[in-house]
Amino acid sequence: MDQRPLGIFDSGIGGLTVVRALHELLPGEKLIYLGDTARVPYGNKSADTITRYSREISAFLLTQNVKAVIVACNTASAYALAALGRELPVPVFGVIEPGVSAALVATRAHRVGIIGTIGTINSGVYQRRLRQRQPDIDITARATPLLVPLIEEDWLEHPATRAILEEYLQPLRLARIDTLVLACTHYPLLKPLLLSLLGRDIALVDSAETCARFVRETLAQAGRLAAADGEQPVDVYLTDLPVHFQEAGERFLRQGLRKVEVVAVDGK
Ligand code: DGL
Repeated sequence: MDQRPLGIFDSGIGGLTVVRALHELLPGEKLIYLGDTARVPYGNKSADTITRYSREISAFLLTQNVKAVIVACNTASAYALAALGRELPVPVFGVIEPGVSAALVATRAHRVGIIGTIGTINSGVYQRRLRQRQPDIDITARATPLLVPLIEEDWLEHPATRAILEEYLQPLRLARIDTLVLACTHYPLLKPLLLSLLGRDIALVDSAETCARFVRETLAQAGRLAAADGEQPVDVYLTDLPVHFQEAGERFLRQGLRKVEVVAVDGK
């Protein structure tokens, strides 16, 4: 048993989808979230910058005595996970490996689509890991950078979002994918629209849920879950207080943001 909190971080508020999934599966774990709202987005930044930011945030989470660090951001998982895994004194979880495993279980035809930020798709990490584990897999990956602002605007069913998605999904439809990996913190909110556009037969891999399940299994196996002590709080730290963060954050978290504090993680 380990009563220390779990530390979760993301480029902004989108990673609250991972917090929500963790809180649902592991209500007895205290969760500490850091959203780097002062420096969001990560999706179009370089690997070096994202790795530096991720190190700074992890150092902050370690000051909170976390027992593990969970990289909720797909772009940071793509670029910084290996470095954090080598450097941090606690276990580090990302969203990619659990998503890859879930996609391989879900796909019948071995035709998988991936949508994510420019950084995530250009890193080629999902594509590489899928191919390593299933060499005959057919992968269609598409960067979909317009989706994050639309989701933050709460345009989840808006005709503009529908039209943009139609355009983005065109090559994935042509490739006749049967499984789509939602390789971005924000995309779980688009599930209803994606299902209506792609049909109910498509398997959607939600990287927030798959990551949360993986964390639960791994901690349970290692005997590191917290002892039952009732529902634990979610503490949210942000590096800036953007306009509408409260309302947007609560949509991602699907519950009230109880305590939000601003912190500097870059030593300035
Ligand atoms: N959190 C990012 C991700 O999952 C999306 C937002 C951003 O570009 O920072 O890749």
